[in-house]
Amino acid sequence: MNVDNGYVDAPIESGIDIKKEIVRLKKEKNAVILAHYYQRPEIQDIADYIGDSLALAQIAARSTADVIVMCGVLFMGETAKVLCMDKKVIVPDVSAGCSLADSCNAVEFEKFVKAHPGYTVISYVNTTAAVKAFTDIVVTSSNAKQIVDSLPADEKIIFGPDRNLGNYINMLTGRNMLLWDGACHVHEQFSIDKILELKKNNPGAKVLVHPECRKPVQIIADKVGSTKALLDYAVNSGFDTFIVATESGILHEMVKRCPDKKFIPAPPENGSCSCNECADMKLVTLEKLYNSLKYEMPLVEVDPAIAEKAIKPIKRMLEMSK
Ligand code: 13P
Ligand code: SF4
Repeated sequence: MNVDNGYVDAPIESGIDIKKEIVRLKKEKNAVILAHYYQRPEIQDIADYIGDSLALAQIAARSTADVIVMCGVLFMGETAKVLCMDKKVIVPDVSAGCSLADSCNAVEFEKFVKAHPGYTVISYVNTTAAVKAFTDIVVTSSNAKQIVDSLPADEKIIFGPDRNLGNYINMLTGRNMLLWDGACHVHEQFSIDKILELKKNNPGAKVLVHPECRKPVQIIADKVGSTKALLDYAVNSGFDTFIVATESGILHEMVKRCPDKKFIPAPPENGSCSCNECADMKLVTLEKLYNSLKYEMPLVEVDPAIAEKAIKPIKRMLEMSK
């Protein structure tokens, strides 16, 4: 089977109901489909579970399925694989990378860690398994503050790779963590001017901002939080209009949960697009999902020696997030 481009490149039988076939194959193979909130709407709709990075890792860790299909980017599949080395873990398109994970090369990160003995190493989940292998505790944007707060006040900490999240956690906790200089190209693109313009045209709108965004964008936010925290804020607050500065895929669940509220995607600095999409997150399609289940490919593989090290900081995070 040809998976040269990162996905199973096989023709789909004509006339089939692809959604029904995905559900049938899922049952036949005792598979579970997990999808991140940034996935295409049709992928979110067919998934058994949707969630942010933390929730997806938690669900994978307790799954009893034989096959885990992670509709997200490769580092999410790797995290699931490290937690479930005995299971088949599939990412329907393994070419789905992450600019943030790419901004932290494992060899360079190891040098950085070794140059700072005595430091506790905290890595954002958006990293390769190889980087997690040099990490003491993994965090996500949902639990980073809580985990940093739980460490002794005088603990010396390295935080990587997202400089914006790291600065934000430094500000919230009063720490001075040493930061790796990485970033997500999607979250760094939001335009302050365009957000302020939208606010002017929508008086009363609340600005929701992910902490991977640059500090000036965080400053104009009414709420800064992880994907799930922003969703919860929109659902639970009495306000009815929101400008959303995170990947626009989350609007699908926001609209579903709050059909009477208005959600406006915040636009990027450049280009004519009115929202900010992660092209890698959008690589998973129903066709790729169907073929990945049918052929059980492409499988996510993690070197067992790396997995043995990487599982420790991931498990520590899961323990600390209970
Ligand atoms: P969360 O799912 O933790 O909010 O992270 C956002 C993200 O960019 C995932 O790639
Ligand atoms: Fe990576 Fe950013 Fe895409 Fe999330 S939105 S997968 S951090 S590139």
